[in-house]
Amino acid sequence: MPREEPLLAPRPSSDHSSVRNAEEEDALLTGERSHRDQQRSKWTFWKDVGLFSWALIATIAVIVLSVVYQHEASKSHESKSTWGPGGKPTGKRNLIFMVSDGMGPTSLTMTRNYRQHTEGLPLDQTLVLDQHIVGTSRTRSSSSLVTDSAAGATAFSCAHKSYNGAISVLPDHSPCGTVLEAAALAGYKTGLVVTTRITDATPACFASHVNLRQYEDRIAEQEIGEHPLGRIVDLMFGGGRCHFLPNSTDGSCRDDDRDLVAIAGQKGFHYLNDRKAFDALNGGSEAKLPLLGLFAEKDIPYEIDRRSQDAVYPSLEEMARTALKTLSQATADSEQGFFLMIEGSRIDHAGHGNDPAAQVHEVLAYDRAFAAVLEFLEQDSTPGVVVSTSDHETGGLAAARQLHDDYPEYKWLPSVLANASHSSEFAGAALRAFLAKSPDAKAQRKFANELLEKSLGITDATKEEIDHLLDPKLPYRQDYVFADMISRRAQIGWSTHGHSSVDVNIYASSTKDAWRLVGNNENTDVGAFLADYLELDIEAVTKRLQSPQDWTWKPADTTNWLGSPLGSDIRTEGLDTYHGDFKKRSSPQKREECGCGCGSQH
Ligand SMILES: *[C@@H]1O[C@H](CO)[C@@H](O)[C@H](O)[C@H]1NC(C)=O
Ligand SMILES: *[C@@H]1O[C@H](CO)[C@@H](O)[C@H](O)[C@H]1NC(C)=O
Ligand SMILES: [Zn+2]
Ligand SMILES: [Zn+2]
Repeated sequence: MPREEPLLAPRPSSDHSSVRNAEEEDALLTGERSHRDQQRSKWTFWKDVGLFSWALIATIAVIVLSVVYQHEASKSHESKSTWGPGGKPTGKRNLIFMVSDGMGPTSLTMTRNYRQHTEGLPLDQTLVLDQHIVGTSRTRSSSSLVTDSAAGATAFSCAHKSYNGAISVLPDHSPCGTVLEAAALAGYKTGLVVTTRITDATPACFASHVNLRQYEDRIAEQEIGEHPLGRIVDLMFGGGRCHFLPNSTDGSCRDDDRDLVAIAGQKGFHYLNDRKAFDALNGGSEAKLPLLGLFAEKDIPYEIDRRSQDAVYPSLEEMARTALKTLSQATADSEQGFFLMIEGSRIDHAGHGNDPAAQVHEVLAYDRAFAAVLEFLEQDSTPGVVVSTSDHETGGLAAARQLHDDYPEYKWLPSVLANASHSSEFAGAALRAFLAKSPDAKAQRKFANELLEKSLGITDATKEEIDHLLDPKLPYRQDYVFADMISRRAQIGWSTHGHSSVDVNIYASSTKDAWRLVGNNENTDVGAFLADYLELDIEAVTKRLQSPQDWTWKPADTTNWLGSPLGSDIRTEGLDTYHGDFKKRSSPQKREECGCGCGSQH
C-alpha cells in the first residue's frame, strides 16, 4: 500500500524562516515588498505622516465602536430575562428537565457517526438531539474550572454556583432552595428518573441538601421525606436501592440499620424493586403517587449490557414514558402541572471508564428518551417544554487519535464499536470472576481471548495486551485495559478519566419556549430559566430552609442536618491552585486508597 503523503507539510521553524515570516507579514500588511534599507525620500516622509494620522483616526474609531458594542452587548444580556417570541408562559404547564451527565459535544458527533455507520443512514440523518440544539452552557464551579456533578447540578437546581461536592448548599455551607422544592410547594407534582443511584449527585441536588455528595444515606432519608419541607418528591425511578436497606440486610450499603423502604411506606410511598412491578404500572396508567421504584442495588447496567437483560431492568425511555404518563394523569384535574427531571446518568460513567462502545449506546438511549419526551409534549393537552443539557463533559473525548509517531490518519472507525456487544465494565467483571476461581495461567489466557472476541469483538489481541490484562499487579481495574484496547482500535482519544471544562450543548423542544437559553449561557442561567418558566420563587425556599422554625419536619439535631462540611480535600473558596504535580505518573497514596482509577467522584 502506498504511504499517504501528509496533507499539510510542516512549516520550517528556524530563526531564519521566522525573520522571513516577519518580512512576509509586513508585505501583507502594507501591500508592498519590504525593503528595510531603502532610502527615505520626502515622499515617504509625508506618506508616513499620512499613515500615522490614519492609524490614529482608526484607533479612535475602534475605541468608539467597541464602547458602543459593549453597550449593545450588555443590553442584549438584559434582554435575556425577557421571554422572546413565545411570550411569558401563562396557565397550567409542565416542565421536563433532562440532564445528559458527562455528555460533551464530541459524544454527539461520535454517536451520530456511529448510528449512520451501523444503520447505513445518509448524512442528513442526525440524532433527535441534533435537531433541537439551542445553545451552549459554561460549566465551571465556584471552586474549580472543572466542575463535578454536584456543583453542576446545584447550578441547575438552585441557580447558584457552588463548590465541587456541594449538594444544593452554597459555598458558605448554607442550603439553597431548589426548583423541585419550590415546584412541590407551589402545588406541582414532581419526579426524578435516573439510571444510576437515585442518591447520586444530580438527583440529590433537586431533592436534598448536604455538604458533601458522599453523604448518600442522608440524601436517601431526605428524598423520602425526612426533609425540612417534608416529602417533596412524588415519583422516583432509578437505582441505588442499597442506600434504602438496613445494614443487616443483603444488598445494603447503609452505615446504619434504618429501613428506609419501611419508613417510605409509612410516609405513603408505593415501593417497587423489580421489572415485574414496573410492568404492572402498565406504562403509568396503573401507577399511584407517591412512587419509589428502585430497580438496581447501585447502577442500572449500561444500555449496551442492559439490552440482553431487558427482562430484569427497564430502559431510560421506558422509565421516562411511565413517569410522564403517571405525572400527567396525577395532575389531570389540577391547576398545576408537573416538574420532572430525567437523567442519562451513565454517559458520564462511560466517559470515566473511557469506554466509547458503552458511551454510544448510552447516548442513543438518551436520544430515545428525549424523543419520547418530545412526543409526549406534542400529544399532551397541557403545554410544556423540555430543556436538556449536560453538567460537564467527561473524559476529554476526541473523535480521532494519533496512535504512532508518523503522520496521523484522518479517521476514526465506528465499525470497531459496532462489533462490541458489551461494555468494558461487563468484560472486567467477567474476567475477575474467572480469575478468582481459576488460577491456571493457560486457562486464564484462553478465557481472556474468548472474552475479548465475544464481548468486545476484538480478535487480534497481542501477547502484550493479554499479559497486561492478566497482570496480578495491575494498579487499576481490567475495565480500563479493555476500554483502552477498544479505543485504540477505533482511533478514539481520551485525555482524562475525569471531567473536562469544555462548554456543553443545550437542547430544547423549541427556541420559542426556551428563548432565554438561545446562545452561550452560564450553567446557572439554566437553573434560573427552570425556576422562571414555572414562576417559582426559589429564594423564598432558601429562606425557609435556613429558618428551622418554619420547618415541616425536624431532624433530631437541626444544626447538623447537612452533615459535616469538612472533607479533607474540599476547597470551597477560590480556584484550585497549581501543585507542581505535572510530572508524577501516579499518586501512590490515591492508588492505595481506592485500588483503581477512583470512580467515586463523578
Ligand atoms: C449497623 O448499624 C448499626 C447502627 O444503626 C451499628 O451499630 C452497626 O455497627 C452496623 N453494623 C454494621 C455491620 O455495619
Ligand atoms: C467485525 O466483526 C466481523 C465479524 O466477526 C469481522 O469480519 C470484522 O473484521 C470486524 N470489524 C472490525 C473493525 O473489527
Ligand atoms: Zn456529572
Ligand atoms: Zn463524572
